[in-house]
Amino acid sequence: MEAKGGIENASFGILANKASSQTEIHSPYGGVYPKLAKREHLKNLPILLKKTLKEAYLDSTKLKKPVDLIAVTYGPGLEPALWTGIVFAKELGKKWDIPIMPVNHMEGHMFSVFAKNKRKFKITKIKKPILSLLVSGGHTELVLTKDWMRYKIIGQTLDDAVGEAFDKVARMLGLPYPGGPQISKLAEKERWNKKNFKIILPRPMLHSKDLNFSFSGLKTAALYLIRDIGTLDENLKAKIALEFENAAIDCLVRKTNRALKKYKVKTLIVAGGVSANKHLKREIKKIINNKIELFFPDKKHTGDNSIMIGISGYLNYLKNKKKTPNKEKIKAAGNLRL
Ligand code: KG4
Ligand code: ZN
Repeated sequence: MEAKGGIENASFGILANKASSQTEIHSPYGGVYPKLAKREHLKNLPILLKKTLKEAYLDSTKLKKPVDLIAVTYGPGLEPALWTGIVFAKELGKKWDIPIMPVNHMEGHMFSVFAKNKRKFKITKIKKPILSLLVSGGHTELVLTKDWMRYKIIGQTLDDAVGEAFDKVARMLGLPYPGGPQISKLAEKERWNKKNFKIILPRPMLHSKDLNFSFSGLKTAALYLIRDIGTLDENLKAKIALEFENAAIDCLVRKTNRALKKYKVKTLIVAGGVSANKHLKREIKKIINNKIELFFPDKKHTGDNSIMIGISGYLNYLKNKKKTPNKEKIKAAGNLRL
């Protein structure tokens, strides 16, 4: 992508956007299988790069540099997979003699709300403080931003991430991985079916005074319920999916609302894979008044994507006054925090 302008008014142009999904490969394992992820990244990265450069009409055949800066995710995540990307970026950085900007995956999600499907987009001027609800397969956190690109985690999950809980409950229901969209599809259909009896699952920490979450108790309650029922028919599956989704989203929305009030938030960002969830969006809209600006990513950018990493890379490059770390010093940081 192309990038220009300062931090508060940066503008971007997408020249090419390609991704390679490993969903089918990991599906039989019900989650990401690290060794396979690494092997697939190693295989796919050079192919993907070639296709992307071609689509963007950028020439790298004569060893001359096709771009000025490489942004690469260095954490958080599975270290073998992160390393594959980092090593690949370092090789290119050396070959083309260009700098590398390491990026935090969760900050990338935060910036994904600005990305637009059309080729050009801008970072709009946003009012602070900004609250971000970041919800993915590995994270569930409430992040406060008072100064641009300085973060304070004010709430987080004490055990499972919400996306992980969606995936695990989906698995219990015999739905394929990744389970979030599958549960959501079942729940959306069932939501309008009013006549039947109700299943009730717990909403852990809903009333706790802090801003933290817990999803492992909800997951275990779903497990016991499914075990006690024995054989599940489609009707029961849909009911469990609906109640699980309601319970998980209730917890997210309640704590977000608490944080909005406590910190007199002016802008709310909801991002990460789970931000694709329709019920979450509906419920979040209910707690927003007209003084708070709300950002969700376009459907195309809710899940992991390279555009969000590009935005974050450029903005960090500016923030660091165009200084980048020594390539040798860039390392994977599996547990990196904002
Ligand atoms: O951000 P992401 O693509 O990858 C990580 O960084 O983890 O998030 C993936 C997570 C998965 O757990 C997936 O099941 C969940 O996002 N997800 C959803 C929906 N779409 C994806 N969860 C609930 N409802 C959805 N519609
Ligand atoms: Zn992600």
